[in-house]
Amino acid sequence: MMTRAIRIHRHGGPEVMQLEEVELPEPDAGQVRVKNTCIGVNYADIYEREGDHGGPHFAKEMPITMGHMAVGIIDALGAGVTDRHIGERVGYIGPNSYAGHTNIPVARLFRLPDAVPDTVAGGYLLRGLTAEYLLRRLYKVQPGTTALVHAAAGGMGLILGQWGSLLGARMIGTVSSPQKAQVARAHGYDTVINYSSEDFAERTLAETNGVGADVIYDGVGKMAFLKSLDCIRPRGMVVSYGTASGNVGEFDLQRLHSKSIVVTRPTLRSWIADPDEAATASKALFDVLSGGKLHTPIGAQLPLDQAAAAHHQLASRSVTAPIVLIP
Ligand SMILES: NC(=O)c1ccc[n+]([C@@H]2O[C@H](COP(=O)([O-])OP(=O)(O)OC[C@H]3O[C@@H](n4cnc5c(N)ncnc54)[C@H](OP(=O)(O)O)[C@@H]3O)[C@@H](O)[C@H]2O)c1
Repeated sequence: MMTRAIRIHRHGGPEVMQLEEVELPEPDAGQVRVKNTCIGVNYADIYEREGDHGGPHFAKEMPITMGHMAVGIIDALGAGVTDRHIGERVGYIGPNSYAGHTNIPVARLFRLPDAVPDTVAGGYLLRGLTAEYLLRRLYKVQPGTTALVHAAAGGMGLILGQWGSLLGARMIGTVSSPQKAQVARAHGYDTVINYSSEDFAERTLAETNGVGADVIYDGVGKMAFLKSLDCIRPRGMVVSYGTASGNVGEFDLQRLHSKSIVVTRPTLRSWIADPDEAATASKALFDVLSGGKLHTPIGAQLPLDQAAAAHHQLASRSVTAPIVLIP
């Protein structure tokens, strides 16, 4: 069948994304075809477009159909698929999602509860599964934990703040403006630091009697990572989980020595590769999402052909709720 897709033929700025009519083959064995109804716009999409971030966002063969996740309805089954049915509503984490239809392996699908609308799943499925492993498995946040989260009013920041708070942690967030500070305060953060006007490491030390945070979740990268080492407690963990301001690059390992600091650079795909772990993770996420325990605001809902505008907005630091594309 033919479908519309946002593709790139070279890496570059948002302008390299083009809407094209493409031939989508029938789903392979073990795959289903999903008619996408809501597509999440995530920072990973920006790394994929720019092409210089390494790690899991390695350069693929051109042209690339953009995107890493969507929500939709199964409308065709590949050979051997017996536990899914046409008409089933699903979310998935997988490539080629900026399109009308996408073929996706069954293992990448998540059944969505009715209580989680398409837009919420579109905005928060990838971010929520990430928050799940960051808060519950990579580091076990619990009562007594002090967690520092950079970009607290961004898409990841909103869910980390609220879920961390639900788990009983004291949540400290950094943001770049007073308006974002208000948003962060309304989404689980006990203390918010405007890191445009204040030294976040000094303030975090002051807030923790000079000890430092137990865990730091850094999705900002270049601008925030090294300074984060100054306000982590001895034997604490700095999680460099994203690079919105640029890659961290090389740094002197000796900087970890005096406090026995643990640093990790994780990716969601390692934490949901095992089907049982993925099922447990999604159940935990859907429990908090459908239990009404989290505010899940959604920002702009744009048509597929406005993917470039969506990328401009996300990269501009002006966004305080996830953006989604509606094909
Ligand atoms: N490793 C994983 O498994 C995984 C999975 C999902 C997401 N992530 C990461 O999570 C992070 C957040 O993703 P998101 O999609 O929810 O984005 P987002 O947080 O909504 O947007 C990024 C935020 O980073 C901050 N920032 C600081 N310097 C920036 C700069 N130079 N350019 C742009 N933004 C800058 C901005 O907040 P302020 O203005 O307040 O500074 C901005 O709002 C990303 O780094 C992403 O890669 C990682």
